[in-house]
Amino acid sequence: MKLLVIGSGGREHAIAWKLIQSPRVQKVFVAPGNAGTAQEHGLENIAITAIPDLIEFVKKETIAFTVVGPEAPLAEGIVDAFQAHELKIFGPGQKAAQLEISKSFAKDFMQRHNIPTAAYASFTEAEAAHQYIDQQGAPIVIKASGLAAGKGVIVAMSLAEAHAAIDDILVEHRFGTAGSEVIIEEFLQGIEVSFIVMSDGQHVLPLATSQDHKRLNDGDTGPNTGGMGAYSPTPFISPGQHAQIMREVIYPVIQGMTQEDTPYTGFLYAGLMITPDRQVKVLEFNCRMGDPETQPIMLRLKSDLSVLIEHALNGTLDQSETEWDRRIALGVVMAAEGYPESPVKGDAITGLAELMEHHNAGEDFHIFHSGTVLTDENNEQAHKLVTSGGRVLCVTALGDSLKIAQQNAYEIAGQIEFRGAHMRHDIGYQGIEYIHQSK
Ligand code: AMP
Ligand code: GLY
Repeated sequence: MKLLVIGSGGREHAIAWKLIQSPRVQKVFVAPGNAGTAQEHGLENIAITAIPDLIEFVKKETIAFTVVGPEAPLAEGIVDAFQAHELKIFGPGQKAAQLEISKSFAKDFMQRHNIPTAAYASFTEAEAAHQYIDQQGAPIVIKASGLAAGKGVIVAMSLAEAHAAIDDILVEHRFGTAGSEVIIEEFLQGIEVSFIVMSDGQHVLPLATSQDHKRLNDGDTGPNTGGMGAYSPTPFISPGQHAQIMREVIYPVIQGMTQEDTPYTGFLYAGLMITPDRQVKVLEFNCRMGDPETQPIMLRLKSDLSVLIEHALNGTLDQSETEWDRRIALGVVMAAEGYPESPVKGDAITGLAELMEHHNAGEDFHIFHSGTVLTDENNEQAHKLVTSGGRVLCVTALGDSLKIAQQNAYEIAGQIEFRGAHMRHDIGYQGIEYIHQSK
């Protein structure tokens, strides 16, 4: 069968790379894809992004099903549009995607269904928001309610910072309409983890756990980014805690969405804080997989992803199970100069071709692309790999321990170069410290 993946990041490269490994899958189209998906055997990029054009393409090519990578097309209603044409597509409809699209919807939903999360209040008027901040004190967290590409959250350590954030969002309209409402939230301390599941609207299949690193620089300093590296599984979720997360968070979401007549089908990502007293609190929901969490998760997945997604589309996820590589996978993001504020594009990337040449099919690492393009795409002799976005590559490697996976990933990343490349040097450090202390 032929499949289609929507998106152009490292997450979509990893999903498409995994799907094409299935003997049932002849071809995976990626719309629009990147240089990584352009070069991968069995994958083909298509330069189509408008939903009606995608529908026409899927009909013409008799695509068996489509997988949506990022949140923007979900917010645009791609799932509803495909379903109106009786085309199979994996992801939540626009209404169910409110869990990610609107933080105020998500917070109110969690309150209605007793799902643990930070205490909060929502505001559309700056005056009332300022008063609330003065009552609550700092540190405190300010969030634009709408989609702001991961930039709409300000963790304010001082009252001055919190007040400035309110003015920025509600008065200066820094995030446009995404910031017409703000959520002001209790500041939580603890360890952040990512918990991603698949749902068919009724049943749930949890994927392997992971941990992302959102800050730009080592030691979790610098501005928030889309994610600078991730590993899977994380030692911070014990089997007992896994059961607790399913019971307190995941099942109540799926049941709650069904009760509210917006059954949830798709990947569901819960960003969780594990507090020092081992409580679990939801920081956010995403209605898609995480980037870069997907890269290590897909490198470890041994099951046929196309079969899992078909079960999800047919409502039979209870009849499926996942098998995982027992090793740890760790991905290091190499970002462009100026990321996340204003990434520089167009720098030539070297070292990759040599790495791939000596790479056998054993797949103990894989380099997933994000912001990359091939100049002269149709001319193999002349084409050149250049950067085209903030996050450029995610170098993902397996290892028998978290420490070894980390060493392997950095050894490979060290052989790739582009002008201004920036990466963190400590991906996995919290997990490594925790494992060391528990010994
Ligand atoms: P979000 O997009 O809501 O996940 O927030 C982005 C980042 O801000 C999270 O990954 C956390 O690091 C941080 N954050 C969000 N909410 C809180 C909170 N209530 N307390 C502390 N940090 C938070
Ligand atoms: N890695 C965080 C996200 O995908 O939202």
